[in-house]
Amino acid sequence: MENYLGLLLALFAAFAITNFIQAQEQQGFISLDCGLPANGRSPYNDTFSRLHFSSDATFIQSGKTGKIQSTLVSRFMKPYTTLRYFPDGIRNCYNLNVGKGSKYLIRATFIYGNYDGHDIKPVFDLYLGPNLWATIDLERAVNGTRQDMLHIPTPNSLQICLVKTGETTPLISALELRPMENVSYSTESDSLNLYNMYYLSKSGSQIRYSRDIYDRIWRSYFKMEWTQISTDLDVVHSNKYAPPKDALKYAATPTNASAPLTIEWSSANPDAQYHLYAHFAELQDLEANETREFSMVWNGQHYYGPLVPLKLNLLTIFNKSPRTCNGGKCSVQLIRTNRSTLPPLLNAFEVFTVIHLPQSETDESDVSAIKSIATSYALSRINWQGDPCVPQQLRWDGLNCTNTVASMPPRLTTLNLSSSGLTGTIAAAIQNLTQLEKLDLSNNNLTGGVPEFLGDMKSLTVINLSGNNLSGSLPQAFQRKGLELSVEGNPRLCLSSPCKKPTKKKVVVPIVVSVSAATVIFVVVLFLVVRMKNPSIWEGLHLLLGTSMANVTFVNKKSRRFTYSEVIKMTNNFQRVLGKGGFGMVYHGTVNIYEQVAVKVLSQSSTQGSKEFKAEVDLLLRVHHTNLVSLVGYCYEGDHLALIYEFLPNGDLKQHLTGKGGGSIIKWSVRLRIALEAASGLEYLHIGCTPPMVHRDVKTANILLDENLKAKLADFGLSRSFQSGGESQVLTAIAGTLGYLDPECNSSGRLSEKSDVYSFGIVLLEMITNQPVINQTSEILHITQWVGFKISQGDIIGIMDPNLGKDYDSNSAWRALELALSCANPSSSKRPSMSQVIQGLKECIVCENSRENNNQGLESQAMSIGLDSSMDPMAR
Ligand SMILES: *[C@@H]1O[C@H](CO)[C@@H](O)[C@H](O)[C@H]1NC(C)=O
Ligand SMILES: *[C@@H]1O[C@H](CO)[C@@H](O)[C@H](O)[C@H]1NC(C)=O
Ligand SMILES: *[C@@H]1O[C@H](CO)[C@@H](O)[C@H](O)[C@H]1NC(C)=O
Ligand SMILES: *[C@@H]1O[C@H](CO)[C@@H](O)[C@H](O)[C@H]1NC(C)=O
Ligand SMILES: *[C@@H]1O[C@H](CO)[C@@H](O)[C@H](O)[C@H]1NC(C)=O
Ligand SMILES: *[C@@H]1O[C@H](CO)[C@@H](O)[C@H](O)[C@H]1NC(C)=O
Ligand SMILES: *[C@@H]1O[C@H](CO)[C@@H](O)[C@H](O)[C@H]1NC(C)=O
Ligand SMILES: *[C@@H]1O[C@H](CO)[C@@H](O)[C@H](O)[C@H]1NC(C)=O
Ligand SMILES: *[C@@H]1O[C@H](CO)[C@@H](O)[C@H](O)[C@H]1NC(C)=O
Ligand SMILES: *[C@@H]1O[C@H](CO)[C@@H](O)[C@H](O)[C@H]1NC(C)=O
Repeated sequence: MENYLGLLLALFAAFAITNFIQAQEQQGFISLDCGLPANGRSPYNDTFSRLHFSSDATFIQSGKTGKIQSTLVSRFMKPYTTLRYFPDGIRNCYNLNVGKGSKYLIRATFIYGNYDGHDIKPVFDLYLGPNLWATIDLERAVNGTRQDMLHIPTPNSLQICLVKTGETTPLISALELRPMENVSYSTESDSLNLYNMYYLSKSGSQIRYSRDIYDRIWRSYFKMEWTQISTDLDVVHSNKYAPPKDALKYAATPTNASAPLTIEWSSANPDAQYHLYAHFAELQDLEANETREFSMVWNGQHYYGPLVPLKLNLLTIFNKSPRTCNGGKCSVQLIRTNRSTLPPLLNAFEVFTVIHLPQSETDESDVSAIKSIATSYALSRINWQGDPCVPQQLRWDGLNCTNTVASMPPRLTTLNLSSSGLTGTIAAAIQNLTQLEKLDLSNNNLTGGVPEFLGDMKSLTVINLSGNNLSGSLPQAFQRKGLELSVEGNPRLCLSSPCKKPTKKKVVVPIVVSVSAATVIFVVVLFLVVRMKNPSIWEGLHLLLGTSMANVTFVNKKSRRFTYSEVIKMTNNFQRVLGKGGFGMVYHGTVNIYEQVAVKVLSQSSTQGSKEFKAEVDLLLRVHHTNLVSLVGYCYEGDHLALIYEFLPNGDLKQHLTGKGGGSIIKWSVRLRIALEAASGLEYLHIGCTPPMVHRDVKTANILLDENLKAKLADFGLSRSFQSGGESQVLTAIAGTLGYLDPECNSSGRLSEKSDVYSFGIVLLEMITNQPVINQTSEILHITQWVGFKISQGDIIGIMDPNLGKDYDSNSAWRALELALSCANPSSSKRPSMSQVIQGLKECIVCENSRENNNQGLESQAMSIGLDSSMDPMAR
């Protein structure tokens, strides 16, 4: 049906020319003759329709203009002789200002007309905002095609986009917007796409503006088996649909007076949903003994009636709920009733298909902010058109957005304009991106001060302003937790108060501490003993380790070795204790102005030589994996030994399982993801490192969580650092934590990767059950015994952490339980490898996801930890 446009022959104009209409009556009309040069002939009044067409140049920034082949010009009328085509970019969009909440008829017309002489007819997609409207296939519709949609825009602007889907170049000939009556064509769904709109006449001409006040385009349609009736009288058409009087003065009746009047249509999509608007008016003078009465039947089923058309008065029958047609073939019949003396009659009808627009547009204030930013920097990127965030594959370069359910407006989370040649000051509109997490304006030519508002944007976790020409001082509000700030390479920027001229490009506050290796071994043993007696002392130790800008911070420290005085400065003379760990106290530290680290000061003196210690730490410095807490530096100076770690703001897994220390309950799917991440870190130590490492202290307190609850294993390699290497070794002292210790290793003293697998099994059991690993108040001492007891009782449900509230796929949970028990098998040879564990966890996640997808919308991801929650203000 799309290719009905065909020739817009002068024929249709013969009627219109008689109706002179004032231009101001086209109130709210937008009539764009695409490709018409902005000067010269724009705007113009179309000779026939008197529509007021203008150039599209101010509504779109991209594209080139063309004209259809001269031999075809006589076949097509204005505004269809010029066009705009889009050789550059994937998505090109028109921006139209509309009345929010008002109903519009939106019409786009496409005629190829061999404008480029290549005779290659394009195929491309048409989008309304972030949603596909139609595929435009000019290979099939050789004479051009048109799309008409009834739509209520939600924001004040409407974006109509042409999206390249293959090799061919999208084009558009005309774009028209007509305000409609808000209450007309109201359906359960928001938008309707025109399928066809006919008045039943043999005239062969089209009716549109000004004979149709809404400028709908009515085509004439007639069947052989029909007889035409018509009138010269006026038909009263005053309902909200108001089809043109010129259309209503014609009607068709079946020639065989006892046969039904049938209209049919079909579509390739058998699930298409339709709305039919049928318009009736009696055009004949009926005698007293005559009746015209009929019923409507839709695909063999009674649909409406019986009805009697009103004399010269419009009656419109339509369905509010959409209807589908069996097999995609629709047939509506008008069947006369027994008492009717006359055959049925029909004047005009419209068929629409429901168009689903599931993806919501990006948050309006984010859109206006990003547009304002683009304007203030005069950015003209070809792909910065249309919706900034969606569809995802067309997201603007340099942005990232929340990627939640389609019905939620996406929000901007990342703005990366690094190396974009920006000049001027930092744009004030950035503060209106209220969900922004990462801002990268590095390597531009920005000048002026660093605005206060950047500090106040609580969602920001990464700000990179390096490599500009900023001046002044930094806002006080930058001094908050979890903010990664880079400002180096701004020679005129003051970095501390009172303002001093920085001499170096980078501000680096180094670190020092020391301890001997032998002492460390001693401490390990001591630690173990103490912990067996009082495990709670160690809780909270690893809460606050981390920083991810290590390489930026320490760039000028190739060795990443710091002096003790640097460590003192960094920790402000060891002012704030974060916790006490297996090897010593952990302090909070600050480097590079506001960047936070955790400094682990190893206890007392060292008997291991400096060289050996350095070799071991250098090895650890080389271990990099997204699920391992990074060691970013160390100090070895006399008796002072310290390790400087990445800072993780969200504490450890133990805290989140028990809900202690500000942790939150994590839901099952997130637990599985955390388990998978921890397992990946462990697998990397086992098979990705050279030489391979055994962690030896895998436990929930050693699984730290970043701001997105991504898991990172802490404290790996530490015990190893103070032992001689080897794949499986006999320990002189057993490291690890009671309850997590491999019983086999415990008795034989042999250490292997399988010991870590055992400990991981215990971690997994804790994540499933939230039971204490060792319960001193019960006879059932160990978590494996507790689980065994529950299984023997047949109380499978009772094994699960009650905090999960049954919100998990049981299949996924049992698989995880099986996996945990196989890891915790007393015999190391029966335990899986970490790679097998990862495989098993992935299967659990698949089970859980399929459940979550079936209950969509129940819950969004449990990423609820606020960065500024209950933490103390940072010590300086
Ligand atoms: C179009 O018609 C209107 C109304 O008659 C008139 O005011 C306007 O000047 C015309 N514009 C052009 C460009 O002819
Ligand atoms: C349609 O509704 C919008 C918003 O409610 C209103 O601004 C507009 O005037 C209405 N249009 C008509 C034609 O009633
Ligand atoms: C296109 O227009 C030409 C010329 O009027 C006509 O012969 C042809 O049938 C049309 N093709 C289609 C697919 O409508
Ligand atoms: C007229 O229609 C009726 C009912 O469909 C049918 O039975 C009859 O054969 C038709 N008459 C002619 C002449 O086609
Ligand atoms: C109706 O009445 C007229 C005379 O007034 C007569 O000619 C005609 O046959 C009647 N029609 C029917 C269907 O009875
Ligand atoms: C119409 O007439 C047919 C046969 O003459 C009969 O079977 C049918 O029941 C009648 N319908 C109504 C609604 O009276
Ligand atoms: C965008 O953000 C999503 C999560 O919101 C993340 O998964 C994805 O990797 C990010 N993409 C880029 C290019 O940063
Ligand atoms: C911004 O983009 C550049 C390259 O285009 C990349 O190197 C940098 O890491 C990005 N910044 C952020 C914060 O993602
Ligand atoms: C930020 O948004 C507010 C409210 O929408 C608006 O008034 C203000 O002009 C915007 N600021 C900038 C710099 O765009
Ligand atoms: C900044 O501006 C200077 C001169 O004004 C120019 O030489 C330099 O290339 C610019 N740098 C960037 C990154 O655009």
